[in-house]
Amino acid sequence: MPEAANQAESADDFRFVGDDKLAPFNPTDISAQKLAFEALKLSPSDVLYDLGCGDGRFLIHASSNLSSSSPSSPSSLRCIGVEYDKVYADRAALATENNESITILHANVLDVEMDDATAVFVYLVPDGLKMCKDKLFDVLRRGGRVASYMFSIPELNPVETFSSKGGCKVRLYDSSCVASGVG
Ligand SMILES: C[S@@+](CC[C@H](N)C(=O)[O-])C[C@H]1O[C@@H](n2cnc3c(N)ncnc32)[C@H](O)[C@@H]1O
Repeated sequence: MPEAANQAESADDFRFVGDDKLAPFNPTDISAQKLAFEALKLSPSDVLYDLGCGDGRFLIHASSNLSSSSPSSPSSLRCIGVEYDKVYADRAALATENNESITILHANVLDVEMDDATAVFVYLVPDGLKMCKDKLFDVLRRGGRVASYMFSIPELNPVETFSSKGGCKVRLYDSSCVASGVG
């Protein structure tokens, strides 16, 4: 069972084992965060995951922007960041410690149950996307949305592609992308 990063951990802290590295740490810049936020069209009832959340910046952006865009309905958006590298998981936990809507899990994405996910953000390399493809397909089949920054999800055509002036791309996937039985 993954640990919340802000809970005390034993001396035998979670260690990354094997070949499950889905991407190196490379944080999204603000224009990518804005594009992904726009693409996902989040509502307060969503449960948003960032798979490989780094220092938690996208979840912080999403949580604060949803609150300010709908002040009359205080954000109950739940955000879950999954990060296996302890340095970044701890950084994300510290940065979000005063935001009750964000939980940071120090865990391997491939081991995490995410049955409650309605929206997912990923910034992973193509091989990493391939490795967690089944999880992403499950979210889509249940009616969720996935926004992928920079790289495409294997075997799927996005419903929409959002581009910034600087050329960065966020591809949006929804249930229609898996309707034809791909994967
Ligand atoms: C390209 S960075 C994206 C960081 C963050 N999502 C953002 O937008 O700024 C990818 C992150 O995924 C993490 N990561 C890679 N493989 C992982 C795995 N199997 N489980 C959890 N996190 C992983 C890396 O440590 C890194 O922080």
